Amino acid sequence: MRLFAISGSLRRGSYNAALLDAAAADCPTGVEFVVWRGLADLPAYDEDIDVEPAPTPVAALRAEIERADALLIATPEYNASVPGALKNALDWASRPYSANPLRHKRVAVIGASTGLFGAVWAQAELRKVLQTMGASVLEAGLSVPDAHSAFTAEGRLREPALALALRRIVRELVEETVERAA
Ligand code: FNR
Repeated sequence: MRLFAISGSLRRGSYNAALLDAAAADCPTGVEFVVWRGLADLPAYDEDIDVEPAPTPVAALRAEIERADALLIATPEYNASVPGALKNALDWASRPYSANPLRHKRVAVIGASTGLFGAVWAQAELRKVLQTMGASVLEAGLSVPDAHSAFTAEGRLREPALALALRRIVRELVEETVERAA
């Protein structure tokens, strides 16, 4: 099974990218964990250029989502919401609405922030956006607060309860997706 992972941060040294790395390191065997690197390449969404053939980075994103069995999205929180770059990517992925590649796809949402609440508002908004697009969002989420001190030097989550929660979310996502396909 192919798990497509998206970090909503463009920052070098992003804690959300680190969260995805921690998830990948603890992923069940047999899962192909693919982290998307194309966020910075997308143009700003514009209906005038949302025509066939789609801009190359857009077509690549849509194809990756289509190919994926499930998605794991780690979002930072910017001003209590989803960063614009991530929302932009989802706007591109959401078209054409009735055939968008996220429809019925299983998605887990997690997030890290340097604040006290671990991107909870951004995750809530991200869920709303994904549900509007027709994705099937896992109920369980994961909020990593104080992200600047949340990771060990080896890139693992320092807090055992958070590490366990991350492991459970990835396993639930994988197991449910495999069951659905059976
Ligand atoms: C933030 N940050 C932030 N944190 C938070 O908990 N709630 C918020 O509303 C915001 N708002 C916000 C806006 C902007 C423009 C920036 C740049 C930052 C802090 C944010 O959590 C922190 O920068 C994280 O480290 C961002 O995630 P990455 O880049 O480490 O993945």
